[in-house]
Amino acid sequence: MVSDLISRPRRNLIAVVGSIGIAIAACSAAGETIDSTPTALASPEQPATGAELYAASCAECHGADLRGTDRGPSHLSIVYEPDHHSDATFLLAVRNGVRSHHWDFGPMLPIDGLSDEDVTAIVAYVRSVQSEQGFEPYP
Ligand code: HEC
Repeated sequence: MVSDLISRPRRNLIAVVGSIGIAIAACSAAGETIDSTPTALASPEQPATGAELYAASCAECHGADLRGTDRGPSHLSIVYEPDHHSDATFLLAVRNGVRSHHWDFGPMLPIDGLSDEDVTAIVAYVRSVQSEQGFEPYP
């Protein structure tokens, strides 16, 4: 009787240790699978590009082609050249919003959910399109 009471928990313990061992084995097996296919992991870990972030957060007002909409101005206007609106003004616009001052679209509200790195990527994208396509006159 007594030995029966002792050996039962032991058997349970062995069962628990056994299943942990199986779990660990399963994890390392999964790890090996992922390691052997690095391309499958590459895309979810890649940060969104400036173009993707612009399309998701800015294009609804500033236009998918940067040339503005009825809700916001063109970022290809000469008024947004780097000497007039520095890269820092983009970060300020995203963080604090913009009061209506150059145009009649109304104010821009702050944009949530973008890190400083995201805004840096967006600015780099805007600057590259500006230098590729040139500027429009203002207004
Ligand atoms: C809901 C519409 C809307 C969205 C979305 C929006 N903007 Fe704007 N933005 C505006 C409007 C309107 C102005 C013009 C304000 C003015 O000068 O009259 C503006 C102006 C700006 C300016 C000029 C700031 C200044 O100091 O004059 C920058 C830079 C800018 N936006 C960047 C962005 C970026 C980057 C995004 C995306 C992360 C974005 N905007 C998303 C509406 C928007």
